[in-house]
Amino acid sequence: MDGNGRWAECQGFERVKGHCEGARAVRDTVETAARMGIPYLTLYAFSVANWSRPRNEVDTLMRLLVDFAKRERMDLRQNGIRVQVAGHVEELPTVTRLAVRELINATRHGDRLTLTLALSYGGRRDLVDAARALAEKVRKGEIDARAIDEQALRSEMTTRLLPDVDLLIRTGGESRISDFLLFEAAYAELMFLPMMWPEFRPEHFLAAIQGYMGKERRFGLTSAQVRTQDQDAARANGRILRPVVGY
Ligand code: IPE
Ligand code: MG
Repeated sequence: MDGNGRWAECQGFERVKGHCEGARAVRDTVETAARMGIPYLTLYAFSVANWSRPRNEVDTLMRLLVDFAKRERMDLRQNGIRVQVAGHVEELPTVTRLAVRELINATRHGDRLTLTLALSYGGRRDLVDAARALAEKVRKGEIDARAIDEQALRSEMTTRLLPDVDLLIRTGGESRISDFLLFEAAYAELMFLPMMWPEFRPEHFLAAIQGYMGKERRFGLTSAQVRTQDQDAARANGRILRPVVGY
């Protein structure tokens, strides 16, 4: 969700006003994802690196998170949206942490869409922490180093409840990953959009999904192999797969 600050500066506002507008875009995006039947939506709300921003801006972001958690709690719950967190919620100020905890608790039975807020999150940090946790288990004799595989690494990451990323959208015109879901996005389709996050609307989201559905994801295989797999899957399911375009 990049571009809040630039959007505000362009309009002659303080940067923090951009974050307020960004919160509205979050609301619309979550609602659109639920309507489209997307099972997982993960928002990069606050990175480990964001702690180094000016104090005033960090405070505003933390306060906006409290506002969001309180304001949206009932709507999210009623719409079957389950909120969870990746990263380190325990590092947030107490008020914010409690509001997020309450939001998670209130929405825990949601079964339509899992909304994950990445908070005090860093992809490298998650990997390093997971490696350290596994090393510790080896040291204690709880696991054999030869048993360490992708699954073992995933199980120690704060994203352990998430599937791999299918589509990664970054607004704000930069073509960077900026430490987001480095491991989980190994085969993600990447979309870098020019509009600033407060300008991101449901129609942009729909267009991105449509673009995604037109892609052939090969996961290192050849196109012919993928097509055969699709046909096999269709046969196994006793149905013909829906065409991937024309949502
Ligand atoms: C939002 O956009 C990102 C968050 C930390 C929530 P930015 O604040 O990075 O906006 P720009 O990139 O300065 O425009
Ligand atoms: Mg930015």
